[in-house]
Amino acid sequence: MPGNMPSKTNPSYQVVILAAGKGTRMRSPLPKVLHKVCGLTLLERTLRAVSAISPERIVVVVGYGKELVEEEIRLVQATARFSKIPIEAVEQKNQLGTGDAVRTSLGAIAKSPRSRVLIVPGDSPLLSQQTIRDIVAADVAGASPELLVVSCDVNPPDGYGRIVREKDGSLKKIVEHKDCSEEELLIEEINASIYCSTVDFLTHSLAKIEPRNAQGEFYLPDIAAIGVAEKKRSFVCKMPDAIELFGANTRAELAALETVARGRINRRIMEAGTTLEDPQATYIDEDVVVGEDCFIGAGVRLKGKTTLGSGVVLEGESYIVDTFLGAGSVVKFGCHFESAKVGNVCKLGPYARLRPGAVLGNDVHIGNFVEVKKSEIGDGSKVNHLTYIGDATIGKQVNVGAGTITCNYDGANKFQTVIEDGAFIGSNTSLVAPVKVGAKAITGAGSVITKEVPAGALAVERSAQVNREGYKRKTK
Ligand code: UD1
Ligand code: CA
Repeated sequence: MPGNMPSKTNPSYQVVILAAGKGTRMRSPLPKVLHKVCGLTLLERTLRAVSAISPERIVVVVGYGKELVEEEIRLVQATARFSKIPIEAVEQKNQLGTGDAVRTSLGAIAKSPRSRVLIVPGDSPLLSQQTIRDIVAADVAGASPELLVVSCDVNPPDGYGRIVREKDGSLKKIVEHKDCSEEELLIEEINASIYCSTVDFLTHSLAKIEPRNAQGEFYLPDIAAIGVAEKKRSFVCKMPDAIELFGANTRAELAALETVARGRINRRIMEAGTTLEDPQATYIDEDVVVGEDCFIGAGVRLKGKTTLGSGVVLEGESYIVDTFLGAGSVVKFGCHFESAKVGNVCKLGPYARLRPGAVLGNDVHIGNFVEVKKSEIGDGSKVNHLTYIGDATIGKQVNVGAGTITCNYDGANKFQTVIEDGAFIGSNTSLVAPVKVGAKAITGAGSVITKEVPAGALAVERSAQVNREGYKRKTK
């Protein structure tokens, strides 16, 4: 295209997200839009998708579980990608239908004549940014009609509203599944519940819809027939990828969408150069970051904001939430980590547990049946067997013997344990906090340490062994 063509300025968009419904078919006290797909709520996914077109504002229609939904909006609004896009919640007091929901939203929509309104449902979590861009491109190419309706073919189309076309292929009306005639039920082109329109047309047509239908609701799709009857410019934008437009109305549909989303995430991670032993059995949340050339074994779950550095090996069957694992670290089978930070080339597990606030340096070994909570462990230190470390600061090159316990809790308060560089904690030591073991100090196996051990000292706290030579065993 010649670069000096006068460019027609694109219209700006205001987005309405329909999120007031309870989602009765989910059979859940949680509002439907707060259910999650791969770690993100349906609402956050929808907000991210529409953020692609940098809308002037986003109006979310809330109702059922309003406080919870508003809290989620606040959390999303606080993230960087929404710093320039205002999101506003508008309450629909009674959920009288999608038409009523949009009518409610109009109070928060600016009445500027050039501004278009993009309406999306809050329960279509696979909607991608690209699809939103494509829909808006079609809207612009159609020279901003009064109504653009997004459709796709679905087989079977059960539950969806059907797109009824005239003989010449133009839009006639949209009929909800429950209101379909025998003939209409056969139509496989469905309403995706995404529309582009104008404030004027929405205001005018939504004043006319009536709840005369099987569900006794004000149907948003009814504005299609109104536009057609009034010879308004209305057309259907048919999308090729139906999966993008699927809604989650039931737990089964939610699970099906989760499977698709998971497949996408796993593919992205493999394309970036990580081996998944069994992609079918690997569960990675949307915002997890995986470095290059990692290995992720079967049964691994990576949740929330977990980050893996390059070359990390996860043997399998581990549950890892909001945790950072440095480059080259190896996690053996069966670990559980939550809100922990692990340095480079550490060796963890099998069967290790890192609880919130566990911060490990580089080359740290945490072995089987070791639990670490709210503690720092310095470079090169080893805690290899059957140990509890809580509220502790452990220096570098420390060796913590099997069965060591930091006794950090007296039933009322928590206390700190400090173990300095190069110390050696004998097996089965109880460290009664608050207590400190100085640099290069040693504690004897089985000792209960209640007082500071000076640097370089050996602390032994156990009664001397008594041997009775030639002791005669009792007989029955
Ligand atoms: C809707 C469409 C249907 C379309 C399908 C696509 C209507 C009447 N039907 O059906 O044509 O094929 O989506 O997925 O629009 N909501 C409110 N307030 C209400 C009612 C609903 O905000 O009073 C919200 C819901 O929270 C939900 C969205 O609107 O996020 C869609 O409502 P839902 O009940 O899921 O509509 P469907 O039956 O799926
Ligand atoms: Ca739906």
